[in-house]
Amino acid sequence: MHIFATALKVYVKRRVEEMTVLGKDFSPCGRREIRDGSFQFIATLLFGLSLALFVILMGLLMKDLLRKFPSSHESYALPLSSSSRSLAINLSLTVNSKEVWHLMSEEELMQRASMPPLVLSHPHRQTLKVAFMFLARGRLPLGPIWEKFFKGHERFFSIYLHSSPEFTNDHPESSVFHKRQIPSKPVEWGRASMVDAERRLLANALLDCSNERFVLLSETCIPIFNFTTIYNHLINSNHSFLSSFDDPRRIGRGRYNKRMAPTISISDWRKGSQWFEVHRKLAIQIVSDRKYYPVFKDHCRPPCYMDEHYLATLVAMINPGLNSNRTITWVDWSTRGSHPKSFLKKDVSKALLTQIKNGSNCTYNGRMSTVCFLFARKFHPSSLEPLLNLSPTLLGF
Ligand SMILES: *[C@@H]1O[C@H](CO)[C@@H](O)[C@H](O)[C@H]1NC(C)=O
Ligand SMILES: *[C@@H]1O[C@H](CO)[C@@H](O)[C@H](O)[C@H]1NC(C)=O
Ligand SMILES: *[C@@H]1O[C@H](CO)[C@@H](O)[C@H](O)[C@H]1NC(C)=O
Ligand SMILES: *[C@@H]1O[C@H](CO)[C@@H](O)[C@H](O)[C@H]1NC(C)=O
Ligand SMILES: *[C@@H]1O[C@H](CO)[C@@H](O)[C@H](O)[C@H]1NC(C)=O
Ligand SMILES: *[C@@H]1O[C@H](CO)[C@@H](O)[C@H](O)[C@H]1NC(C)=O
Repeated sequence: MHIFATALKVYVKRRVEEMTVLGKDFSPCGRREIRDGSFQFIATLLFGLSLALFVILMGLLMKDLLRKFPSSHESYALPLSSSSRSLAINLSLTVNSKEVWHLMSEEELMQRASMPPLVLSHPHRQTLKVAFMFLARGRLPLGPIWEKFFKGHERFFSIYLHSSPEFTNDHPESSVFHKRQIPSKPVEWGRASMVDAERRLLANALLDCSNERFVLLSETCIPIFNFTTIYNHLINSNHSFLSSFDDPRRIGRGRYNKRMAPTISISDWRKGSQWFEVHRKLAIQIVSDRKYYPVFKDHCRPPCYMDEHYLATLVAMINPGLNSNRTITWVDWSTRGSHPKSFLKKDVSKALLTQIKNGSNCTYNGRMSTVCFLFARKFHPSSLEPLLNLSPTLLGF
């Protein structure tokens, strides 16, 4: 019988060691971690005790058989803890917050990012940050605009870059984009891999507890107000900005697949722009979704574009009250193709930028506002020069 006692002791000791690793070396959201740790410890202890009881009963019943078992306790202790142990080791390898590269698997990353939200008074969260998450193919042709925009506000933002994996050029050390590339995977337009990249960006950004708001941007986006204005507008907003609406047309409800029922019904179905902004709470709910994501992955394939329907539908189902249902990224769909208008060097003018900044009405925190958009797309690389010339007078930076 002492074999089992030893096995149990070794197992419990390992779990305690693991928790020390988790608690000490990798606790971005401090207190929460420790509480999870003690809960885990109690659960582990109970599990261990019931296991021991079971084994003792088995032992009494099958003495002869048991004698033939290997005497090494390794074969009892290891299978139980090996997966969580390698998780702990992998997590402890995670680099400090200056860089965002890490060795976590996708599963571990999502698990960590799904931890419940923190209380706002947490000591690590004195300064709330906005996470700017760039989903780009390769380099950022409009990078100089963003550098100008961010300059002087270092404490209030963090940047995450998702580029194609073969894009390995880093940005120079002086750049705000230096070492901000997250572990990325190939992305196909309109496919599930696009949504995967968005979830990957959210999960990575969630690891930094000071990130409070999360904006998804492309390499063709520009900011259209100065940093302070954009930061205040987002941090003070009672709503997230994720466009979500019911489109009765073929390009809306027409893309719903009956096989999604009963998990998702036609009345749940929404459409929206891919470029969103969400609260921390909503970001956690998005990366934690295990229920709706597989249904979309199986049944929303071209001509159903997952990036136009998944988040729009998910948020309407799980947290409609937190959403304004509109996007804060301006785009020109007037040309009516499957892609919006792209602005070239010749198109950039005072009139265009004024129209983008002050040509709409919307509701902000329950009041009418003309500040409806904070970002705009799609700007061609050739538009960089006129944009840089106009930015001090028209964009405020
Ligand atoms: C932990 O990381 C190593 C590489 O560092 C990898 O081989 C292993 O599969 C990872 N463990 C898990 C559980 O993903
Ligand atoms: C940003 O823009 C606002 C509104 O135009 C202005 O009041 C503020 O002074 C600007 N902030 C900075 C730091 O330039
Ligand atoms: C957004 O849409 C949802 C339904 O999809 C609704 O419950 C919610 O009230 C809407 N939000 C606003 C601010 O209108
Ligand atoms: C925005 O446009 C309105 C008219 O629609 C005008 O009255 C207002 O002065 C403009 N604001 C700015 C900041 O240009
Ligand atoms: C915004 O609303 C105001 C007041 O209702 C109106 O005068 C103005 O023309 C509207 N502007 C736009 C761009 O719709
Ligand atoms: C935003 O929400 C907070 C907390 O629910 C509330 O106190 C505040 O009045 C709201 N502000 C607006 C403008 O709706």
